[in-house]
Formats: sequence, structure tokens, C-alpha cells
Amino acid sequence: MCDAPANESVGWRDPGFIHDGVMGNLKKGVKYYYQVGSDSKGWSAIHSFMTRNGDLDETIAFMFGDMGAATPYTTFIRTQDESLSTVKWILRDIEALGDKPAFVSHIGDISYARGYAWIWDQFFTQIESIASRVPYHVCIGNHEYDWPLQPWKPDWSMYIYGKDGGGECGVPYSLRFNMPGNSSELTGTRAPATRNLYYSFDMGSVHFVYLSTETNFLEGSRQYGFIKHDLESVNRTKTPFVVVQGHRPMYTTSNEIRDAPMREKMLKHLEPLFVKNNVTLALWGHVHRYERFCPLSNFTCGSMGKNGLNWKGYPVHVVIGMAGQDWQPIWEPRPDHTDLPIFPQPERSIYRGGEFGYTRLVATKEKLTLSYIGNHDGKVHDVVEILASGEVLNAGVSRDIVDSEISQAETTYDHGVESTFSLFVKGASILVLGAFLGYVLGFILHARKGALSRNTWTPVKSEET
Ligand SMILES: [Fe+2]
Repeated sequence: MCDAPANESVGWRDPGFIHDGVMGNLKKGVKYYYQVGSDSKGWSAIHSFMTRNGDLDETIAFMFGDMGAATPYTTFIRTQDESLSTVKWILRDIEALGDKPAFVSHIGDISYARGYAWIWDQFFTQIESIASRVPYHVCIGNHEYDWPLQPWKPDWSMYIYGKDGGGECGVPYSLRFNMPGNSSELTGTRAPATRNLYYSFDMGSVHFVYLSTETNFLEGSRQYGFIKHDLESVNRTKTPFVVVQGHRPMYTTSNEIRDAPMREKMLKHLEPLFVKNNVTLALWGHVHRYERFCPLSNFTCGSMGKNGLNWKGYPVHVVIGMAGQDWQPIWEPRPDHTDLPIFPQPERSIYRGGEFGYTRLVATKEKLTLSYIGNHDGKVHDVVEILASGEVLNAGVSRDIVDSEISQAETTYDHGVESTFSLFVKGASILVLGAFLGYVLGFILHARKGALSRNTWTPVKSEET
């Protein structure tokens, strides 16, 4: 590979052989059973999957970024225990689907192996329960790629593209995954070219586009040409919704100052393409939080949907990097209160979540619904609904609308329907517990008030994302 530790001996393990099996002539909407292995080395358990049915309108996907892997032992590099919960809840959702096709989308910062091959092995073992049943789509993140001598490193990116890839320079990412399309960039070394950079496909009512924030995306680049041509060629009668995904966000209100120059470039070069071509949803990772924005163009909210007149169907941006990596950034300070993180958040930021989790996308020809599920309870905590016309139903801040949509989204999956009586008992218990906790919290907060009022907020300056 290209740099340390990936190309050094400390922590190195022979990655062995990677076998790619290709299944051909599969029929649409059929359940297939399969095993992998050999007579000499033994066979795996029997797995099954449903093939995608291009005739169906319904689209189901589980989407997140920055998950990583957990190890059942302590090791000298950072691992992500929360990734176990993310896989557990997604497996629950996939099992509840029965024979409906779906896929998983992991938008960068995949295993956090950063040069240590055994973490990649651990990661694939961990996702086997879901990746053996549904396609596992990926795009590239800084932790799969960035290294000091990477070929595309313009002046403005000097502090953005660092050593986050642990010298892997995209090699495990390119060899262990096979995404659609034939995009590739040379590494400038003897290491093989980086693949799986940008591609697109249709599923049901949605056209999905994946892009690379780690390689050239500026106007004039091959990638820019691909994105432009792809977005301009979408058949909106067949797929009324377009979802674009990439690793580093175009919008975030976290205090992620290192990437600010990149966000400027993305806003200048990519946002006009998204707005002009009516992209429905733009999903990003990298920041380990959930954050949903209003429909946006140049920091300005478009439609407030039901609550407003003359709505505009700008893209809805959502940051979904909360699937496992533990460091959580602090929200950026307010311009007029530079010593305090933003609270309440600015108007364009509709919902911010600090819980680990993932998102679930369900779309028909008429409506696309994106729900945020928290790992702490496996339940829906935020929902946005977008109509084929581009109208965003709950783009605003009305909690009444959002709450009703949340309960609707939860019943769709029909997990544990509770009786009225049990809900009443639970509600009463929560009230009693809430009163008690409120008393205790009030006591503690009162006791700490003096100490807190003397503290000032200190932004985190150098933490990797
Ligand atoms: Fe990242």
C-alpha cells in the first residue's frame, strides 16, 4: 500500500486471498439460496437473498456512515462498540421485511481499519448477518483513502487530506468491494488504482447516486462530468426521487472547522447541480451525528411545505454519520455568542440527534420517507417525508406533524403492538419516574449551578472524524 502503518510490519497480517463470486442470469424478485466455501476448506451456512425487482415501485434502504467494527478483545487501535447495536437493529428490520428486497448503504469511514487488515476481517464478519441477505453499498471516506502523497491534493485541502487512511490509499476498499460502474483513479504509486468512486443505480422509485469527496469533484473533473450527466439523464417518470450520497457533508452545524474549505468547494461546484436537477435528498457522513436540514439552496430554506406558501423543492440535506464511531463533535458557536455552542440551532437545522443509530428509507412512486432510528431504543426519532412533486411535508419545525409521522412510520414496521392497558401502565410509570428524576436532577443542577456559571465553552480543536 502507500504509507505507514499499512505498508509496515507492525500490526501487519497477511490478508490472504479474496474470492469474488459472480451469480449470473438471476430472475427478478426471486429468493435464492447459496453457500460459499470449498470441499477442502469447508462450507458456510446456507444464506438467502431476494433479487431486486425492477417492476416494483417500493424502495427500502438502511443508510448510515462512519460505523466501524467492534473487537471482542482490547486492541491498540480505536474500535467502535456501538457498531454492534447498529447491525443488530438493521438485522431486525431486514428480518421484518420478509421477502421484500432492500439494501444497505454505508457512506464512508467503513471499518476504521486504517492500515490494519485484521480489522477489515473483523468488520466483514460483523456485517455478515446483513450483508449476506441484502446488497451492501459503499462510498469512500477519508479513513479508506487519505495519505500524505495522494495524487489530488489542491492547496485549499492541505489540512483536509491528511493521514486518515493509515496508508491504505484505497487498496482494501477497492479490492474488497465491487460497486457498479468503472470509475477509478491512479494512486501514483505501485499500489492498484482506487475503484468504486462514483456510480449510480435505480431501485424502485429512487435513483441513487454515490460520489467521492476524497478525489477530484470540481467542475472539469471526470467525476463532475459523471455527476452532471447522470443527474441530467434521470427518468423522473420511472424514478421520481433522486438521492445523492457522499462522505463529507456539504452542510453541517457541527464545529468541524477543518473541512470548511471543502464545504465551500462543494457548495460552489456541486450544489448548483443538485438544485438545478431537483435532487430530493443529499445524505452525508463524516460528522458523527444525525442532523436534518430544511430544503436548502445556498444556506437558504426553500419550502416549508404544508405550513408555507409557494414552496420550493430544494434538496433536503441530512447528516447520518452516527452509526458507530464514538467521538461526537460540538455544535459550532453562534456568531453573536462565540463562547457558546449553538442552542437553539439555526433555522436551517431542523433536527439534531446525539444518539447513535441509522436511517431507514422507504419510498413509493408517490412519497419518500426517511426515518432516524436510535440505537438506544430501536425506535424512530425523526422523520422527513417528501412527495414526488418535491414538496417536503414536514420541512418545518412543527413537532405535532413530526410526532404523528413518527408513529405512522413505526406502525409501518409493526414492531411490538402494545395493548392500551400496557401503554397506560407504562405511561403512569414514566410519569412517576420522571417526577423523581426531575427532583434529583433539579437538586444536582442547583448544586452545580455556581460551578458551571464560571466555566466557559472550549471547542474541540483537533479530533479526527
Ligand atoms: Fe470521515
